[in-house]
Amino acid sequence: MSTKQSQKDYSIYFQPPSLTDAKKRGKEDIKVHYDFDIPLELKELGKDKFYLIQTYGCQMNEHDTETIMGLLEQMGYQPTGDRHQADIILLNTCAVRENAEDKVFGELGHLKHLKTAKPSLILGVCGCMSQEEAVVNRISRKHPFVDLIFGTHNIHRLPNLIKEALFSKEMVVEVWSKEGDIIENLPKKREGMKAWLNIMYGCDKFCTYCIVPYTRGKERSRRPQDVIAEVRELARQGFKEIMLLGQNVNAYGKDFEDISYRFGDLMEDIRKIDLPRVRFTTSHPRDFDDHLIEVLAKKGNLMDHIHLPVQSGSNEILKKMTRKYTREHYLELVGKIKQAIPNVALTTDIIVGFPGETDEQFEETITLVKEVQYDSAYTFIYSAREGTPAAAMEDNVPYEVKRDRLIRLNDTLNVYSKRNNERLLGQTVEVLVEGESKYNPDILAGRTRTNKLVHFAGSKELIGQFVNIKIVEAPTFYLKGELVGMAVAN
Ligand code: SAH
Ligand code: SF4
Ligand code: F3S
Repeated sequence: MSTKQSQKDYSIYFQPPSLTDAKKRGKEDIKVHYDFDIPLELKELGKDKFYLIQTYGCQMNEHDTETIMGLLEQMGYQPTGDRHQADIILLNTCAVRENAEDKVFGELGHLKHLKTAKPSLILGVCGCMSQEEAVVNRISRKHPFVDLIFGTHNIHRLPNLIKEALFSKEMVVEVWSKEGDIIENLPKKREGMKAWLNIMYGCDKFCTYCIVPYTRGKERSRRPQDVIAEVRELARQGFKEIMLLGQNVNAYGKDFEDISYRFGDLMEDIRKIDLPRVRFTTSHPRDFDDHLIEVLAKKGNLMDHIHLPVQSGSNEILKKMTRKYTREHYLELVGKIKQAIPNVALTTDIIVGFPGETDEQFEETITLVKEVQYDSAYTFIYSAREGTPAAAMEDNVPYEVKRDRLIRLNDTLNVYSKRNNERLLGQTVEVLVEGESKYNPDILAGRTRTNKLVHFAGSKELIGQFVNIKIVEAPTFYLKGELVGMAVAN
């Protein structure tokens, strides 16, 4: 935790986030707390009041928002979609790329007017951006109308912080640079048929371009019994699908000192729980061991989809990124996975235009894509993040070159997305019906075991059920099918 004390402009709660401190990460014990409760006097604070949360970033953030909603509702707050009705507005932010941050600063500009019109409104910023020193300083200087800033390690403190914000005339800032303990039993507001749950927090990989290890703290796994108890509870509540979350889910358990229990063991135990679909994200190629592949190959409720970010196909770039694997190692892993799970869908993340990336090195990414034949991918232009090692590297690749590489990469990826989809033509696949299609309420939308989106005509009563669908058309980004009958999941 930072030792710096409060500055004049902030309330006494200020413990500034510090990248320097985060980098000095040690082997401190991780404490698990089971005694979370909201003090009685705070449970009335939100009575007859409304909240609105805007969430940016990854599923980890989306899930944090579910926790924040759970906390707010236990305080009596009710949800609203109307900014003018809201008594508290929170921006749950993402710091992974510059454009994610720009959106939030733009939004703060808009919210200023609301705050002027309704001074009692509590305006808060939380999430990954709050963990950055520079962001906290910029907000305090340029957006002083913000009432509350809190980080990713102290979400459980929200009820107390809201109280402070309501009674304080100054900006309440509480951000912990502390490694982060694990707080169990936080309330979560989940909706629909799919549920997210964290199996671990933080990241210790320190890829040179990435801000996440600083904003999310050190890698720490929830105890197996706590994860399994939550999965059982979600099964009991009737959820059809769960998504296990972590920055590197297959590093799960590496931090346990008293037991030898890894991600493969966890999946083996979850496999036996009566819950139709289990997914996970994200897995890191370095920690993907043979035992895990063996367990995933048993299928059942473990889905045939693996998101396996590669970032680059060039060994030189992978080295500069400190990804700690080579192109050859990655391709060998893909080979093993495809052999063990023949119809597996593979997806990935790729960054183009890393500092110093040459045309030849970029071509190696293209040849890797051709070799793996991904089902889909998230692709990004490299964005320098202050305080990361890559931000200090010389970046001599012009933006237009980066943009052209991105276009070329996406074109290549699309060829294989379409080709893989076409392989399914005429086949009958199991689909979980998730709802109406976004664009046509007469069409239903669902997902295959491989996480591909399927559109088909059918009665709304099928929503939440498993059906068999015959694939009749295969565009690039989704599949079209016809209802064959009901399916029995697993
Ligand atoms: N823990 C996950 C990724 C989290 S961030 C993993 O390692 O797979 C999601 C993706 O954002 C990364 O996989 C990477 O492709 C991209 N990303 C991260 N930092 C970035 C940066 N500085 N510029 C561009 N893309 C970045
Ligand atoms: Fe970032 Fe790398 Fe950690 Fe993923 S593994 S969150 S890319 S540092
Ligand atoms: Fe963004 Fe934080 Fe997720 S930086 S990608 S919200 S972990």
